[in-house]
Amino acid sequence: MSTDGVRFTVDGVPVVAQAGRTIIQACDDAGIYIPRLCYRSDLPPGGECRLCTCKVNDRYAAACVTPVAASMVVQNDTAELLAERQTIIEMLFVEGNHTCPTCEKSGDCDLQAMAYRLGLHAMQLPYQWPRREIDATHPQVFLDRNTCILCGLCVRASRFADRKSVFGFENRGAQTRVAVNAPSGLGGTDIEPGDLAVSVCPVGALLVKHTGYQTPYGKRRFDEQPIGSEIEGKRG
Ligand code: SF4
Ligand code: FES
Repeated sequence: MSTDGVRFTVDGVPVVAQAGRTIIQACDDAGIYIPRLCYRSDLPPGGECRLCTCKVNDRYAAACVTPVAASMVVQNDTAELLAERQTIIEMLFVEGNHTCPTCEKSGDCDLQAMAYRLGLHAMQLPYQWPRREIDATHPQVFLDRNTCILCGLCVRASRFADRKSVFGFENRGAQTRVAVNAPSGLGGTDIEPGDLAVSVCPVGALLVKHTGYQTPYGKRRFDEQPIGSEIEGKRG
């Protein structure tokens, strides 16, 4: 790492980063994990989930879209931010229809893993049980909006990586939903099971058909280690 980079602190830990890096990029490099649901290093940030929100010089800022600045003071691992992140996760759970014990994604789901990491084991807010459409029109790819958390990763992956722009959002507010670029549904699009837009889904909303449960429960990614471990492991 360059010694003439941008110097700042995260929870009191000194970090040096290249100018132009975002806080989350700099922290990932430094082995400091900032919780996130809609950020991936291989896609442009969307700033959708707000889970990465930190205090930067005492003001809230989303770490995935905020560039580093010299002498900035970042707070990430605090009781206040933990409580706010727990609320975000809880709202995502009660606003959708999540059936973790039977979901194909269980053990490999970022939302479930984040709830465990943040110590959220029971919901206090009332479940809303919304009616949401599923789309089974494609022979190989299944879209279940019941678990969609509107992270936008499929939208960005389809546009920037797959170069297909299969997905987008429609409607507003509580009615916002993932849409596809064919009136007949996924089956009318050119999506393929190997597209990044499918595998990038952090929950069980986009799945490849006929491949379920190939990896048994108990042997999945987050059964082995908590979410964020791969980043924190860089610190040794
Ligand atoms: S379908 Fe998956 S990747 Fe797409 S917005 Fe919903 S949760 Fe995110
Ligand atoms: S990870 Fe930054 S807003 Fe979602």
